[in-house]
Amino acid sequence: MKLTILGGGGFRVPLVYGALLTDRAEGRVTEVVLHDLDDSRLYAVARVLNEQAAVVPDAPRVTATTDLDEALRGADFVFSAIRVGGLEGRAHDERVALAEGVLGQETVGAGGIAYGLRTVPVAVDIARRVARLAPDAWVINFTNPAGLVTEAMSRHLGDRVIGICDSPVGLGRRIARVLGADPKQAWIDYVGLNHLGWVRGLRVAGRDELPRLLADADLLGSFEEGKLFGVDWLQTLGAIPNEYLHYYYFNREAVRAYQQVEKTRGAFLADQQARFYEEMKRPDAAALTAWDRTRAEREATYMAENRETAGAGERDADDLSGGYEKVALALMRAIARDERTTLILNVRNQGTLSVLDADAVIEVPCLVDANGAHPVAVAPLPDHATGLVCAVKGVEREVLAAAESGSRTTAVKAFALHPLVDSVNVARKLVEGYTDVHPGLAYLR
Ligand code: G6P
Ligand code: MN
Repeated sequence: MKLTILGGGGFRVPLVYGALLTDRAEGRVTEVVLHDLDDSRLYAVARVLNEQAAVVPDAPRVTATTDLDEALRGADFVFSAIRVGGLEGRAHDERVALAEGVLGQETVGAGGIAYGLRTVPVAVDIARRVARLAPDAWVINFTNPAGLVTEAMSRHLGDRVIGICDSPVGLGRRIARVLGADPKQAWIDYVGLNHLGWVRGLRVAGRDELPRLLADADLLGSFEEGKLFGVDWLQTLGAIPNEYLHYYYFNREAVRAYQQVEKTRGAFLADQQARFYEEMKRPDAAALTAWDRTRAEREATYMAENRETAGAGERDADDLSGGYEKVALALMRAIARDERTTLILNVRNQGTLSVLDADAVIEVPCLVDANGAHPVAVAPLPDHATGLVCAVKGVEREVLAAAESGSRTTAVKAFALHPLVDSVNVARKLVEGYTDVHPGLAYLR
């Protein structure tokens, strides 16, 4: 089984490889091809993988290349985890938006639109190549903004592209844990778009346990989302939102906090990672140790500004281990070995949410088997959530249209229609600001 990782020089690749190393079963991945545009990043990551593999018998063989077509040929699975414009691009996304008084987060609001506008054309090119060179491959998309990018790729790959995110999984795990339930036994009633979804129920043995959580202020205040959103607000909502909804429900505080920090998240990570990749050039560097240290620091500071505005304190130790690599491995196993399982994934709607058309990519529990991921019917969202989902899907569609046509006017429309961009004039300035700093947006005319 051959797995190709696009963005193979990326910092999170050792997480994926680590997950592969735990898989000893028949039909596991035996060959990993790393693809990246940057040779030195490939070299750095390969060093870490090498150290990981050293203590494991029959570890999957790793090769690296900067030739995309060569990487794709013969792949059974393609993971796409690229970052167009790098972390410097992410820092620009944040700065330009914050200067206009709006959010510059990489997936939410103006920042997410800017990132989407430069990522979609690249993702579409990849999808076309996969369709041509590896038509039977399954594409697992981690590339953010994951829902939008998955939808862009699905226009060329249909249901052979599946988007993943660790946020809903982490959320479900935390809720199950505080309720004393086994996350594996729990049915999590979650739906929305990527980074824009809500848990409305958690069933164990046919019983919805969420009302018990919502009624218990102590329990509710004891985990990440309770601390972030506050007990009162969760009780008012009657649902547990994805952590990224903090940017919507507490937008003013989030924008202010991000404006005040010395370094935005993108700028912080750009510096941190530059140090790591620099260190990997030293022949005597302990690659795995350096990687692990850097990763721990990254995890500990995740969404730090949001947590600070909410007075949420440090992250729980249990929340620091991420988990997206586990979703990726579970998804691959289910498809490759027909091991039927349920996972929250980004797939085409196909009638699941009646307010959206069949091709809209949504985030929803899916049954997964050798035939792919099949969304499971869910109850409709309450009106306010439906409103947000439709508004943001409308924005995503404008981003896709702008990427296809190269129309600057359509790009302005995308920004202007976003619920977190509060003026058409701001949208115009954002397009100016972003096209000034991003070479990847030169196509907008
Ligand atoms: C979560 C999200 C991912 C995102 C990551 C960002 O895991 O679900 O979509 O890539 O956080 O974390 P970072 O450390 O880059 O801010
Ligand atoms: Mn995500």
